[in-house]
Amino acid sequence: MRLEKYIATSGIASRRAVKRAIREGHITVNGAKILIPGHPIDVEKDIIEFEGKQVQPLTEHIYLILNKPAGYLTTRRDERGRPTVMDLLTDLPKSIYPVGRLDLETEGLLLFTNDGNFANRLMHPSHEIEKTYLAWVNGIPSKRALERLRNGIAIPGGKTAPAKIKQLNVKTVPPSSANSKTHKNEVVAKFRVIIHEGKKRQVRLMFKAVGHRVIRLKRTRIGALGLGNLPQGQYRFLTPTEVAQLQA
Ligand code: URA
Repeated sequence: MRLEKYIATSGIASRRAVKRAIREGHITVNGAKILIPGHPIDVEKDIIEFEGKQVQPLTEHIYLILNKPAGYLTTRRDERGRPTVMDLLTDLPKSIYPVGRLDLETEGLLLFTNDGNFANRLMHPSHEIEKTYLAWVNGIPSKRALERLRNGIAIPGGKTAPAKIKQLNVKTVPPSSANSKTHKNEVVAKFRVIIHEGKKRQVRLMFKAVGHRVIRLKRTRIGALGLGNLPQGQYRFLTPTEVAQLQA
């Protein structure tokens, strides 16, 4: 078996992240540092170590979703000690990690697993899995602006692929503290946005490119998997059917 596949199977990280760890010199096989992914290993005999700790094959895979509140970083550990999504996953093995990420201020559906191959497949751009967001934006984007978002628009990460965008409602709300100098009510339009890419801050940057600020963003769905009525800050395990649907 290839070294990165074996380590990903053990649940430490996705295959992509493991390849990086190999190149960065964190992995040894029988005590010798291996720097090139693809190295063949004998699962029966070889001793594989990640930063000095022996890597054991996993016996059980875990799949769960969290309804992430705003204000939590999507990372396993923050050097500056800020709150991370891991703080919300109590009583779970340390081997699980988030599949993909949501910005600090973004809420909603975040998937976790310790199945590196599952995470790797789901994250691969070729799978084009749809992600659905609710976005509340300042002001009402014009028809032309929405067409530009639907067709694909240039953002700092490159041109976006076509997106599905539906305006759901428009509300007038009291001024936010950031805007309180004007004391004017604000118009907030709510959209459902469906994209199948994962460019950094993609939804926020798409609306920014047409002159609108996203004031709240929540992911509600990844492929067939919906957040449902899972309370904010809570997690639940996926059913075998849900796991199979994501793998399909
Ligand atoms: N788009 C964003 O702008 N932020 C996210 O967290 C996810 C998608």
